[in-house]
Parts: sequence; structure tokens; C-alpha cells
Amino acid sequence: MEGQAPQGTAGDATRLIAQVERDRGIDLSQYRLSYVERRLATRLRALDLVTYRQYGQYLLDHTEEYTRLLDTLTVNVTDFFRDPPVWKIIRGEVIPALITAKTANGQRTIRVWSAGCATGEEPYSLTMAFLTELGDAAKSFIVSVAATDLDPVALQTAQRAEYDVAKLEHLPGPDRVRFTVNDGRRFTIKPEVTEHVRFRKMNLFSDAPPLAIDLILCRNVFIYFTREQQERIINVFHKSLARGGYLVLGRTEKMPNGAAAGFEPISSKERIYRKI
Ligand SMILES: C[S@@+](CC[C@H](N)C(=O)[O-])C[C@H]1O[C@@H](n2cnc3c(N)ncnc32)[C@H](O)[C@@H]1O
Repeated sequence: MEGQAPQGTAGDATRLIAQVERDRGIDLSQYRLSYVERRLATRLRALDLVTYRQYGQYLLDHTEEYTRLLDTLTVNVTDFFRDPPVWKIIRGEVIPALITAKTANGQRTIRVWSAGCATGEEPYSLTMAFLTELGDAAKSFIVSVAATDLDPVALQTAQRAEYDVAKLEHLPGPDRVRFTVNDGRRFTIKPEVTEHVRFRKMNLFSDAPPLAIDLILCRNVFIYFTREQQERIINVFHKSLARGGYLVLGRTEKMPNGAAAGFEPISSKERIYRKI
């Protein structure tokens, strides 16, 4: 059975997907079908089941299995300052440019959105980067970071702001010293950072997005979506961004052609774009 797709007709798979949506409101049609099938196969193997029908029945009999299915579908792997070359441009170019523009316009609020924030490392990294760049000027700015994800368990971890010390190696030394408290086993992010971040459960396809955003990070989330769905979400981001706002996608994620017209590339290699 190892490595094999579950058995059953295409109709069985569709019925199972409809059942999951009806019972739990998890819209599996937002994921590529091949991705859903691979993830379902993992659960079936774990339960020693062979067909979609058996799994559908199992879900009816053991409702706690829905939680495990959602865990399997949402891969939450992340890290502080993940992909350093991207952060080099965010810290070295994007954030300074935003602060300069705000200062020139007499504006004092910076609004940032980490879309698909998983366990919180990305929005905390963003906040640290802004606070460091602002320096003493941080006192006269409001830095507001919206951090959203579909997965409530990941969001709980994010809100605790407590991580294994192994993760510290991804934090640049000055950020580590200034923004974390370490007890040798776990470390926590200081309130100086956490107070700027608001976590919220949000499905990118169905919930209202935050507006007037200056910088959106949506990295390593598009892997789940079809091209058409990616375009839909890029259009959501376009509406969400203030004029001249920035969008950063994951390093392996390309701006879909059908939605590219509203953006100019800042770094095509690092997938950084600006709303035009
Ligand atoms: C691999 S993590 C990315 C974390 C972080 N952005 C990074 O790059 O390190 C992908 C996250 O996307 C979330 N996600 C998947 N589909 C989503 C959707 N439709 N709406 C909101 N979040 C979603 C998952 O729950 C998961 O936490």
C-alpha cells in the first residue's frame, strides 16, 4: 500500500471531498486535487484503510479524525527570517523605502500583513525588522502587523510566542539579544514585538482581507493552490494594498501571468513586487 493512491472511482473522491466540506466547512476544492489525494493517502495509510469510501465512513464514526486531516493538509513549516536573501532586500530596501515615503507624506502608520503566517515566525521577524530600522523613530510610528492563517492550532502556537531554542540560530545576533528572552530550553519573543502583531483565523478565499496595507508577505502558501486560484488571491492582495505597497511571494512561487499587470517587479528573483 505504501506510496499508492487510495482506491476508488473519481466519484468516490469527489463525494469524500463534498462530505469534508459539508461537515467541517473545509473547502478542499481550493487545493490542487493531486495534492489532496496525496495527503488523503497519508491518512488512509496511517489508518490501514484502502478506499475513499472507507475513509468517508471512518470520518463519520470518528469525528476527531477531521482535526488530523486538517493538520495533514496544512503544512506549517516555517522559520524566523526564512530565506535570508529575501530578507536582505526586505530589510535593506523595502522597509527603508516605506519609512522614507511615510515620513515624506507625514504619515505615521505602517500596516503590514503576513498572510499564511503559520506559527508566527514570519510576522515576528517582520516586526523586528521594522523596529530595528525605525530605531528611535519607532516611538512616533504605529507599526501594525496583521497575521492570518487558516489553521487554528498553528495560530495558538503563534500567539504563545514561545519557541524551541533550536530556532534561535535563524535569528540574527542583534535581533536575538534585543527581542528575545531565553531560558536555555525555550525562548520567548518580548512584548515589545508581540504587542504589534494581531493574529486572526482567516481563509484567504472566503474571509474579508485587511485593507490599506503597505507590505504583504504571502510566502509558501501558493503551493496548495491552482493557477486560477493564485490569480484570485493576487487580486485580493491588489485590493488590499495601498498604492505603492509591496507584495512578497515565496521564492519558488511565480507571479501568475493573469494577475501580473497590476504590479511592477522589484526583484523578480526574490519574488518582490510593487503595486502600480
Ligand atoms: C508553509 S506555511 C508558510 C508559513 C510562512 N509564510 C513561511 O513562508 O514560512 C503555509 C501556511 O499556509 C496556510 N494556508 C493554507 N491554505 C490557506 C488558506 N486558504 N487561507 C489561509 N491560510 C492558508 C497553512 O495553514 C500554513 O500555515
